[in-house]
Amino acid sequence: MANLCFHSPFLMFSLLCFQFTLCLTNFTTNDELALLAFKFSVKDPYNHLASWSNSSSICNWVGVMCDSHHERVIALNLGEMGLKGILPSKIGNLSFLLELDLHSNNLYGELPKELIQLHKLQILNLSYNEFNGEIPIWIGSLFTLQHFHLRNNSFGGVIPKSISNLSKLETLNWNGNLIEGFTPFEIGKLSSLKI
Ligand SMILES: *[C@@H]1O[C@H](CO)[C@@H](O)[C@H](O)[C@H]1NC(C)=O
Ligand SMILES: *[C@@H]1O[C@H](CO)[C@@H](O)[C@H](O)[C@H]1NC(C)=O
Ligand SMILES: *[C@@H]1O[C@H](CO)[C@@H](O)[C@H](O)[C@H]1NC(C)=O
Ligand SMILES: *[C@@H]1O[C@H](CO)[C@@H](O)[C@H](O)[C@H]1NC(C)=O
Ligand SMILES: *[C@@H]1O[C@H](CO)[C@@H](O)[C@H](O)[C@H]1NC(C)=O
Ligand SMILES: *[C@@H]1O[C@H](CO)[C@@H](O)[C@H](O)[C@H]1NC(C)=O
Repeated sequence: MANLCFHSPFLMFSLLCFQFTLCLTNFTTNDELALLAFKFSVKDPYNHLASWSNSSSICNWVGVMCDSHHERVIALNLGEMGLKGILPSKIGNLSFLLELDLHSNNLYGELPKELIQLHKLQILNLSYNEFNGEIPIWIGSLFTLQHFHLRNNSFGGVIPKSISNLSKLETLNWNGNLIEGFTPFEIGKLSSLKI
């Protein structure tokens, strides 16, 4: 075996890679810390998040999708899981996230301002939860957002004008909230908006 190693550069290389992978798996990434923060901030009565433990790669966790290099989380699909609790600010550390789908749970509280760090986000689905507070002005900084669904929550206040910054927005649904006043005039600037 040792002989083979020394005489086969390819095998040497594979062994090095193998060790390198071990090093990587031991390193607790910010993505993992963010996901664990989420797990600890919600009640999970049906144990949907049972696979969310540090004994396996986050890319194998239920509802988690990673990029092709298995390095960063690009999608969280946690709809209809009966999760109850608040969204922790650490979610904002998932900076490669393209899709955050939390629809049909019992999540409540205000949206953490740290979501502003998700600057690749294309889909944000918070429909059918109990989120409250105002729709934050900073939502206008999520420039890549294409689908923004807030249906059936308890958001109040007015729709912020900054929503007109979301030039890629295609669908927007805020029915079934406590929103007051009129849809801002600026929404007319959203040329991609279909629904
Ligand atoms: C990874 O962690 C395990 C358990 O803590 C340890 O035994 C092992 O030496 C570590 N591997 C590397 C490559 O650091
Ligand atoms: C997982 O985390 C727990 C608690 O933080 C720790 O006690 C345990 O050693 C960790 N296991 C692995 C395989 O890293
Ligand atoms: C992770 O999130 C925490 C809380 O929002 C923040 O203090 C920290 O700077 C973040 N780390 C990175 C690397 O973004
Ligand atoms: C968000 O979730 C609702 C409820 O299931 C669904 O009707 C809607 O199509 C979803 N939107 C997106 C963009 O995934
Ligand atoms: C977003 O829109 C608001 C109001 O229309 C504007 O004042 C603000 O400068 C814009 N924000 C960014 C980050 O471009
Ligand atoms: C959604 O909100 C509407 C209006 O408030 C309400 O009539 C409906 O029952 C809600 N649907 C669900 C599934 O909660």
